[in-house]
Amino acid sequence: MKFERMKEMSLVEIDQKKCKRDGICAAECPTKIISFTNQDRFPFLVENAEEYCLNCGHCVAVCPHGALTLNTMIIDDYPLIQKNLLPGAESIKQFLTSRRSIRKYHKQAVSHDLLAELVDLGRYAPTGSNKQQVHWTVFEDKTKLQDLSSLVIDWVKLMVKQIPDEITVIRMERLVSSWEKGEDRILHGAPHLIMAHSQGNLPSVSSDCVIALTYLELYAFSKGLGTCWAGYLTSAANAYAPLKKALGLPEGHKCFGAVMLGYPQYGYYRIPNRNAPLVTWL
Ligand SMILES: Cc1cc2nc3c(=O)[nH]c(=O)nc-3n(C[C@H](O)[C@H](O)[C@H](O)COP(=O)(O)O)c2cc1C
Repeated sequence: MKFERMKEMSLVEIDQKKCKRDGICAAECPTKIISFTNQDRFPFLVENAEEYCLNCGHCVAVCPHGALTLNTMIIDDYPLIQKNLLPGAESIKQFLTSRRSIRKYHKQAVSHDLLAELVDLGRYAPTGSNKQQVHWTVFEDKTKLQDLSSLVIDWVKLMVKQIPDEITVIRMERLVSSWEKGEDRILHGAPHLIMAHSQGNLPSVSSDCVIALTYLELYAFSKGLGTCWAGYLTSAANAYAPLKKALGLPEGHKCFGAVMLGYPQYGYYRIPNRNAPLVTWL
């Protein structure tokens, strides 16, 4: 029943026995399709406004009294927030600053269930207008990653002949040279790759994919996994037809990002410094 409206029900149902007429649902509705005029009246759905609903579920999630039902999401889709499980700011800061890009992996594969859990978590990332148009491709089979790296190297070899920037050319030539010596500096011998893609011409999908991958990456770190963004592969994916084919990108789809992942060989003990933020205060 998800995201299909139940015909016999209004989009929003207010249980008048539970509603305290505090107007929070109306105040929080991002598209202002719930109206609350005064305390003499229950909140109500603005006439003919159903089509503007984002299906974000905020109205139900924010009601302290459980007085509101949205007919597009069953109540099981709203687990209670367990506040005792939420980390504090210090923990989050430590967590975010401790994450590193991992380029040395154990051979050990990540279980299918854990890979599925990571992708599932990506659903909770914000998406423009809550459209949720991120598509995922998960490469579980390590041997396929070797083929992908090989195709990226083919593309790099083509690029070396075309790119005017000397430093980039040298960097690319070093990648090829490493590859020829048996070292994969494209996917770093990682056992898995997760790619986020979508229709190339839709608004916000590029950000949606990157944010979703970032959620996935951070959750992977919390699960003891290592990740690294596959920048070369992403550039090549949208420019080099043989790679696009090998990645199985559907017609009209663009790869907006990909991360390699697996169990890290090494742990980190210190947090490297980063440049001061480039910030303008107005
Ligand atoms: C969009 C993007 C693309 C990247 N592409 C690559 C890549 O192709 N190969 C690689 O080894 N690292 C890649 N990285 C990792 C960066 O080099 C890394 O984030 C940076 O050096 C900082 O290190 P840290 O992630 O450990 O903080 C990429 C990172 C981002 C955000």
